[in-house]
Amino acid sequence: MKFDPTIPSTTETGERRQSDAHSLSVGNDGPLLLHDVALVQKLARFDRERVPERSPHAKGSGAFGELEVTEDVSQYTKAHFLQPGQKTRMLARFSTVAGELGSPDTWRDVRGFSLKFYTEEGNFDMVGNNTPIFFVRDPMKFPDFIHSQKRLPDSGLRDGNMQWDFWTRSPESAHQVTYLMGDRGLPISWRHMNGYSSHTYMWVNESGEKFWVKYHFLTDQGVENFTNEEAEALAGKDADYHRRDLFDSIKKGDFPSWTMYVQIMPYEDAKKYRFNPFDLTKTWSKKDYPRIKVGRFTLNENPVNHFAQIEQAAFSPSNTVPGTGISPDKMLIGRVFSYPDAQRHRIGTNYNQLPVNAPINAVNSYDKEGHMQYFHSGDAPVYAPNSYGRGHQSDDNAVVDNGWEADGALVRAAYTLHAEDDDFGQARTLLREVYTEEQRERMLDTLAGQAPDLDDIVYPRFIQYWKNVDADFGAKLEARGRDGQGGDDPVGAGEA
Ligand code: HEM
Repeated sequence: MKFDPTIPSTTETGERRQSDAHSLSVGNDGPLLLHDVALVQKLARFDRERVPERSPHAKGSGAFGELEVTEDVSQYTKAHFLQPGQKTRMLARFSTVAGELGSPDTWRDVRGFSLKFYTEEGNFDMVGNNTPIFFVRDPMKFPDFIHSQKRLPDSGLRDGNMQWDFWTRSPESAHQVTYLMGDRGLPISWRHMNGYSSHTYMWVNESGEKFWVKYHFLTDQGVENFTNEEAEALAGKDADYHRRDLFDSIKKGDFPSWTMYVQIMPYEDAKKYRFNPFDLTKTWSKKDYPRIKVGRFTLNENPVNHFAQIEQAAFSPSNTVPGTGISPDKMLIGRVFSYPDAQRHRIGTNYNQLPVNAPINAVNSYDKEGHMQYFHSGDAPVYAPNSYGRGHQSDDNAVVDNGWEADGALVRAAYTLHAEDDDFGQARTLLREVYTEEQRERMLDTLAGQAPDLDDIVYPRFIQYWKNVDADFGAKLEARGRDGQGGDDPVGAGEA
């Protein structure tokens, strides 16, 4: 539909409206009339304005920009948009995970880091977070995890006890929780945080050689974080602080950028690496697989309509292009199903036809109809193969060049453990070797501040969880007591 701001308002079917201010009534003071199409249409459309918010990651915003590949990674991937010198238009969306649409941007949480690249070979999406790992490693646990972060069934309140009950009963969460409770749980803005694919993905080069890859996007603005006090004060004062910061920065020409790196693991290394490389709760050591620079993306264009371009944006790890692919990470495989499924529900069956989601290259899909079909294939054949000129893939061309070998009986079981796999090891390294003494102290304050929210069942496990990460750190937390300030420990957490 074309928008011409110079014409007076019309109904949706183009008839000039008689008034934007007055309903049709029987006399000045009389009842209103059902045949006032202008009023009925206006109210009916208002009643339908809200679409379901994203189930997690509801609150966020984003901007458009460009990725420029400055280095040569063609030995690892044939993806056209990743070849040297390529420039690709893109969309980024940043978000919090647990809060609803109107929730404050500065609550302690992981931040979403979603990128959509409009490439000539189709859309490539990288839907990551500002942390390189995650809380769980099997998609079967993801809905339970999100439920524990959202609201209680009776009061509708958020609840620290419920969060810690889940985390302490899911020890694989320790690494991510150590991240979240550290300084990076409170970024000062979306511009001042890094983004990570977290998952391992696949790259394939022109000769068909495969590699495992993790994406890192390091902020050129530098990582900066709030203190608990600053974040809390802002949450009360300006719930949209991060949304405003990004929009205002771009508006005044201060364009944020991120440098893109990858860690590359040769295909065969996956079997013998000391950590299971598909376990989302683990990072790959940068000593083993150093970061390789790829290029830089810059966000330089604000949305002109938040609903159409951000709320209706549909990011999904299932959007890959030739030269890229997924991996056997169970979480990733779960996500590849879940995102398009959520988007068919949240936005509508034909969500990929909306301008913000449509690829820039031609689409020839035999999927059709459903609510709000806009693009169609005219009178072309609706089935493949066909003898009447509409393109389709011939069976002779069927190739899976981005797959892997799999074999075994059907089981419901944990990943095979590699030499150094355990739930607390990498969390311990992060706490002891990456965090400074000051950062550990701030984290102790944050955790001690949450102790009073925990009941007699969860508190002992909370102390034990941190003792498992680091005995000394756990003991210090225990010494802070149930009231977070060194008070009594009536349930004897130390014996748990
Ligand atoms: C099995 C595990 C997971 C499932 C089932 C899942 C499911 C979902 C769903 C249904 C949405 C809403 C999508 C929409 O309505 O458009 C979403 C959003 C999101 N998820 Fe996940 N998720 C999982 C794990 C993860 C992980 C591991 C990450 C990061 C590495 C992640 C990052 C995000 C982000 C950034 C968004 C917001 C996307 C946007 O900006 O529109 N999720 N997730």
